[in-house]
Amino acid sequence: PRKIIIDTDPGQDDAVAILLALASPEDLDVVGITCVAGNVPLDLTSKNARIVCELAGFPHVHVYAGCDRPLGRELVTAEHVHGKTGLDGPTLPDPTMPLQDQPAVDFIIETLNSEPSGTVTLCPLGPLTNIATALQKAPEIADKVQEIVLMGGGYFEGGNITPTAEFNIYVDPQAADIVFKSGIPIVVMPLDVTHKALVTKPRNDAFRALNTPVGTAVAQMTDFFERFDKEKYGSEGAPLHDPCVTAYLIDPSMFSGRHINVEIETSSELTMGMTVADWWRVTDRAPNATFMGDIDADAFFALLTERLARL
Ligand code: BDR
Ligand code: CA
Repeated sequence: PRKIIIDTDPGQDDAVAILLALASPEDLDVVGITCVAGNVPLDLTSKNARIVCELAGFPHVHVYAGCDRPLGRELVTAEHVHGKTGLDGPTLPDPTMPLQDQPAVDFIIETLNSEPSGTVTLCPLGPLTNIATALQKAPEIADKVQEIVLMGGGYFEGGNITPTAEFNIYVDPQAADIVFKSGIPIVVMPLDVTHKALVTKPRNDAFRALNTPVGTAVAQMTDFFERFDKEKYGSEGAPLHDPCVTAYLIDPSMFSGRHINVEIETSSELTMGMTVADWWRVTDRAPNATFMGDIDADAFFALLTERLARL
């Protein structure tokens, strides 16, 4: 199995991404979960990550708290999407498992420096503050990361927090810029992909039909989370953004994209946080990321439902 660090701001879709990873030990070895401020403030994301681990029956997973604000901006949160707790929908007990004492950024650096080079993959599912801070503090880790597979950005699909910016990149564009310039191999799951991973009614019924605490909680999370996209965009159901990252690591053949240059807008207030993706290769800027464009959504939901059934 591939060693991964999940860097996250749960978030109902983050929760499903974590559940999918924990349900897939033959493919993924979750060496730690690092939390960041994003959908809701850090105290809630680091609590929610532990709620999700306990829901999955994995109370021994190490969960770390990271940065509580973006590098150079005020924190923008998304309670309008995820609810007050960040994990609205199901009623889940408060966690009893501890938060680790070590700061998330130090854990990321220590893990990359202690494991063999090229064997640890980073999976950011929220703003990139923890990852960028680790790269600033210990630049040598850039050579040791196997790959970064992240959810963020959007190109043809536009943005979901401003007309041009996707939430994770918008919250900390400076951090995203550092990550995209790091030279680390990057795979991007943008809105172009995740807006095709929609929990339609039959797909949600399939979660509910698992008839397990996990299946029921995931169905209730998507019931809550879909309100936003349905009301606002008339979409068919909740987009499962973040699980695209963990699904890609299990079966990359479900996704297709292009290896291209992606730059982050960090100065214009109008387009702040835009992922300027050179999809048509109209510049000679060097490719720095594989920007995904499509997903086999039926295969994705089949995998997800089958794996969640194990928990
Ligand atoms: C991203 O923003 C968050 O609200 C979701 O958890 C996801 O990571 C989608 O834009
Ligand atoms: Ca997220």
